[in-house]
Amino acid sequence: MQDNNRIIIALDMDNQKQVLTLVKQLDPALCRLKIGKELFTSFGPKLVKKLQKLGFDIFLDLKFHDIPNTVYKAVRAACELKVWMLTIHSAGGSEMLKAARAAVDESDHKPILIAVTVLTSLSDNDMAEQGIQRSAAEQVLRLASLSQQNGMDGVVCSAAEVPSIRRLLSKNFILVTPGIRPAGDDAQDQKRVVTPRDAISAGSNYLVIGRPITQARKPVEKLNLILSEISGTSAGLC
Ligand code: C5P
Repeated sequence: MQDNNRIIIALDMDNQKQVLTLVKQLDPALCRLKIGKELFTSFGPKLVKKLQKLGFDIFLDLKFHDIPNTVYKAVRAACELKVWMLTIHSAGGSEMLKAARAAVDESDHKPILIAVTVLTSLSDNDMAEQGIQRSAAEQVLRLASLSQQNGMDGVVCSAAEVPSIRRLLSKNFILVTPGIRPAGDDAQDQKRVVTPRDAISAGSNYLVIGRPITQARKPVEKLNLILSEISGTSAGLC
């Protein structure tokens, strides 16, 4: 079934008051919220529950990467929090991926299980440094494939990688893409940015957008602008 609530707002803030001021202006039917390591380390499950009480689905982006037993337990704990989506690292290997899958399958609440492939901050040189004899783009494809084989529901990748992953893997594999900038916005520290419309056209399922919305003078207006840009856009229409 097509999910039309496709914007995930990255709450990369260090201040809970600021988070709540922003979130109280938002409509949970129009966006979801991503909590990452910084916010979770500072405010923990209490903040997750507070935002869920306001009606929002939470993407818990903690990128678990550890031995299989530890990841199993961490994923079980995340399931207890009733989050909508969570991330682990595909580089943890197939046994770790299987342990995460088992943790979700054995829980009453089953979040969407997403693997991170190669961080977009890593280059081909970083691959060589780690002894990996292929480009970062090739490594993304390899890890996306490993993730699907081991039962992940999808991966995080840059929108630029979406077409090649779509060619290789099944249509229902979920692609979550950060590095999104509406046309005319500052790319800031993101290296390769893609507009919301182009990302959806390429086949992204969910767009992770942080500063373009959180630092906008009028965040709700900015979100609405992005929503109108992608409304009616579907994969392959551009
Ligand atoms: O503010 P901005 O839109 O650049 O935020 C993007 C969000 O997506 C941040 O939370 C960042 O950590 C996350 N992210 C990313 N690149 C990845 C994975 C996650 O930018 N490869």
